[in-house]
Amino acid sequence: MNKNHETRMEKIVSLCKRRGFIFPSSEIYGGLNGVWDYGPMGVELKKNLKDFWWRRIVRERDDIVGMDGAILMNRAVWQASGHETTFSDPMIDCKTCQGRFRVDQIHALPCPQKPSKMVASCEGEKTEPRDFNLMFSTHVGPMADEANKTYLRPETAQAIFVQFRNVLETSRQKLPFGIAQIGKAFRNEINPRNFIFRSREFEQMEVEYFCHPREGFSLLDTWLEERLRFYEDIGIPRSKIHVHDIPDGERAFYSLKTYDLEYEFPFGTQELEGIAYRSDYDLTEHMTKSGKPLDYFEETTKEKFIPHVIEPSAGADRTVLALLCEAFEEEEIFSEQGEREERLVLRFHPRIAPIKVGIFPLLKNKPALVQKAHEVKQMLRPHFSVFYDEAGAIGRRYRRQDEIGTPFCVTIDFETIGESSPHLQETVTLRERDSMKQRRLPLQELLSYLQEQIF
Ligand code: GAP
Repeated sequence: MNKNHETRMEKIVSLCKRRGFIFPSSEIYGGLNGVWDYGPMGVELKKNLKDFWWRRIVRERDDIVGMDGAILMNRAVWQASGHETTFSDPMIDCKTCQGRFRVDQIHALPCPQKPSKMVASCEGEKTEPRDFNLMFSTHVGPMADEANKTYLRPETAQAIFVQFRNVLETSRQKLPFGIAQIGKAFRNEINPRNFIFRSREFEQMEVEYFCHPREGFSLLDTWLEERLRFYEDIGIPRSKIHVHDIPDGERAFYSLKTYDLEYEFPFGTQELEGIAYRSDYDLTEHMTKSGKPLDYFEETTKEKFIPHVIEPSAGADRTVLALLCEAFEEEEIFSEQGEREERLVLRFHPRIAPIKVGIFPLLKNKPALVQKAHEVKQMLRPHFSVFYDEAGAIGRRYRRQDEIGTPFCVTIDFETIGESSPHLQETVTLRERDSMKQRRLPLQELLSYLQEQIF
């Protein structure tokens, strides 16, 4: 990472902490490596992202239904899926610094003892590569023995595969159709890093889209377009997303084709989402190992077959990070007094911004202004997340909202309450974050105007 990009990343991490987006987990006890907590702003941002994904994928389509599987599953699931034996990364240990590193990262990871050198080229004495399983194991029941062992799920997908028949029968879907799920996944990553990019506990937004084998490749391309459109609609331009067609030999062995969508993070262009054509691998494995039918009967052709699967699998936390990186901007502006100032702004798409509207009475010691501002708050609150602020100069209140990415601020002033320019009574000042332009709007039109701009 070059110095500028490093500084940008450091600033983003620091803003996230300072403004209540993301904190290190268990911070007062020294933290827990690779685990993060979302604060008041972060939880709203992530929720808006997940809600929009759900709306696009489930609510607005007839051919996809949702589910919410448990994190704990029968160990047999992970044996059948191959995770127990193959979900691992090769790693090496350094006998000198006691560090453990992923083999594919040693050229990019600084040596903990000599950060001027990368692990691959430092003098430390290294072991041969060994496979390290990424699943967290646990025990279900009081006995911590082999019979009670299972794992925290490392992906949400498997619950969808093993519930395929139940969902098919209860939802009465016909191929092609999909099952969508958002949920936590856990991986004991060897080197969690880059803030929330690679963590040990994270959230996935996954679809398993089942189809006839003859449609697999064309549906994969349809999904690619659909997913690129999604990122554009949350404010990540297509030009910043690179589609990586994973070459033969580098894909998972069961994948017939995979596209990785990669975003230009400050620390490099890296995976945001994978869209994999997983063939009939998963359903076949679970059908064989469980002995239960997971095939499909097509009425029209009287054909019985195991459906193929297209899997768009996105990381919610990685997308949050991409949204933060895309939105973060520092700019120089001139204050009303003509002084040069630095403005830090998060230019979130209004749809995903944590707070949609800041509401300010011009002065806090003027009861009529305060009362009116509370009325406006009550009017907007059922529709949007709003933030009431009466502290400090109005310019500073704007800056505070800029820093958390609030797209609109409404100021209740003397005109609103009819104390100056009576013809402007019942109008408010609406300030737009990106242009910083202010305009007057009749209170009556405020809600519908904001609704139009935000959704
Ligand atoms: N079911 C397929 C699957 O899990 P994956 O490529 O391993 O595929 C899908 O994961 C997505 O989950 C990734 O593109 C990424 O966005 C997210 N993800 C994976 N590991 C992660 C980690 N350690 N931290 C944060 N997000 C992660």
